[in-house]
Amino acid sequence: MNEITAQHRIAHEPYYRPVADEVALFEAAYGAQMPVMLKGPTGCGKTRFVEHMAWRLGKPLVTVACNEDMTASDLVGRFLLDASGTRWQDGPLTFAARHGAICYLDEVVEARQDTTVVIHPLTDNRRVLPLEKKGELLRAHPDFHLVISYNPGYQSLMKDLKQSTKQRFGALDFSYPDHAVEVEIVAHEAGVDARTADKLVSIAERARNLKGHGLDEGISTRMLVHAGSLIAQGVAPVPACQMALVRPITDDPDMRDALDAAVTTFF
Ligand SMILES: Nc1ncnc2c1ncn2[C@@H]1O[C@H](COP(=O)(O)OP(=O)(O)OP(=O)(O)O)[C@@H](O)[C@H]1O
Ligand SMILES: [Mg+2]
Repeated sequence: MNEITAQHRIAHEPYYRPVADEVALFEAAYGAQMPVMLKGPTGCGKTRFVEHMAWRLGKPLVTVACNEDMTASDLVGRFLLDASGTRWQDGPLTFAARHGAICYLDEVVEARQDTTVVIHPLTDNRRVLPLEKKGELLRAHPDFHLVISYNPGYQSLMKDLKQSTKQRFGALDFSYPDHAVEVEIVAHEAGVDARTADKLVSIAERARNLKGHGLDEGISTRMLVHAGSLIAQGVAPVPACQMALVRPITDDPDMRDALDAAVTTFF
């Protein structure tokens, strides 16, 4: 990664339906250079929100999907060998800090804690990133902004962010939107009418009540968009819901029966 290219720029407005005051709060945090943590279950709009905010602020976006094999060098950069010898290659975090991009570290808890601490000097008032191997102390571009996502509840004790990491961020809570808002989102994203979207949301609301009573996680907005998209493709609603809403989240026969029953209540 050497320069900002079209792939980092978001040319068209990503559709994002605000749920509360998250847009204004994010803008204020951006203005205050306060790093932001997005908390919430899978499929509730965190990634879409970041894309929308990058577009809104007119800043390039660099997204990194974190995983447990990731090392600090994967974020910061490394020397590469090429025909002319060795050449430094910025990692995505360094690249974003150098060029003033919004850097989105998705699922940051997946990364090991020793990886996570590289963001510490960048996320306090120093706003620097020491590139030790290269012997450079990079001062972050004023437009640089760090955003991380975090699914509370998915962590084991061993796999949580340190307090010293958490306390560097302002946090926005995401969850499933209110009924009418979610209907609007599903209708827009899947291209189904409001009546169909309304039924899908009602099924999800029933299923969300089963969380902790046999279901690990509720049916997300993402899954509702999937079901709606199948319906928009011409699939009948019941098989569409079975494929997109029921089968992916549970293998338990009783739980499947309960969810299937919720589907047939509405369709
Ligand atoms: N507020 C919203 N406005 C517009 N679309 C939304 C909104 N919330 C959810 N969606 C829809 O739900 C889908 C999933 O959202 P997204 O990918 O942002 O989830 P996420 O919170 O990042 O999930 P994960 O934690 O699994 O990465 C989006 O592609 C979009 O279609
Ligand atoms: Mg995401």
